[in-house]
Amino acid sequence: MNALSGNTVVVLGGTAGIGLATARQAHAAGARLIVTGRDELRLKQVRDELDATTAVLDLTDTAALTGFFAALDAPVDHVLLSGPGPAYGPIHEIDFEEARRELDLHLLTPLRVALECAGRVRPGGSLTLISGTGARRAGHGLALIGIGTAGLASITANAALELAPLRVNAVAAGFVDTPLSARLLGDRLDERRDELRRTLPIGRVVQPDDVAALILHLMGNDALTGAIYDIDGGQKLTG
Ligand SMILES: NC(=O)c1ccc[n+]([C@@H]2O[C@H](COP(=O)([O-])OP(=O)(O)OC[C@H]3O[C@@H](n4cnc5c(N)ncnc54)[C@H](OP(=O)(O)O)[C@@H]3O)[C@@H](O)[C@H]2O)c1
Repeated sequence: MNALSGNTVVVLGGTAGIGLATARQAHAAGARLIVTGRDELRLKQVRDELDATTAVLDLTDTAALTGFFAALDAPVDHVLLSGPGPAYGPIHEIDFEEARRELDLHLLTPLRVALECAGRVRPGGSLTLISGTGARRAGHGLALIGIGTAGLASITANAALELAPLRVNAVAAGFVDTPLSARLLGDRLDERRDELRRTLPIGRVVQPDDVAALILHLMGNDALTGAIYDIDGGQKLTG
């Protein structure tokens, strides 16, 4: 029997990219889905395709986030927090009010979600966060995303310790071929894909389904907590 069969899986930011791929795989594994996002049309498509319960939820709205969890009517088994992409930019161009909002979103929102999950996810169930491998070391324009990367590692470990029996893990992705990557790269997307096919040890570009498969494993394997699992096709080895 599949580990997720009959489980309830909540995907925050589940209408595109990694979140949508995870929702699709969880559905195929027999889970019941609760999916959130900001765009009504995309939520309707998910509802129709995956027979999911959906809710409009902007993760920047903390009151709405609290309300969403309070309205969940039964214990859930697993939660994935996906959502907004990172803020890139050189230090001398930082708008500090904007940066404060970014840090709140990328640091305090995962902590808030972990706290909400602690009371509502069944013992041994899981929360999975998404991080990245690209900003573990310094680089031009990476100061804010670097803070987010370091902070998410701390949140993953400390929440796993303090909020047990909730299990908390993170996946750290390199380049993943999602709508977010397409938006960030614009007309340089195909060039980047070609470069990755040439240089990555796996010889292909990492897809949302690759990351989703790892996330489903983290949900189903109850020996795993407090750890970050890299999935980058070997990108960090190539400089
Ligand atoms: N793609 C990569 O290469 C990569 C690498 C490392 C880490 N990551 C991280 O992985 C996560 C998912 O990335 P992705 O590439 O799958 O992104 P994506 O393709 O843009 O999908 C993001 C999903 O989250 C929703 N979302 C975005 N902002 C939101 C907000 N403020 N409130 C609620 N929902 C929101 C989107 O729907 P709506 O816009 O309709 O709300 C969509 O369903 C992000 O945190 C990203 O930083 C991505």
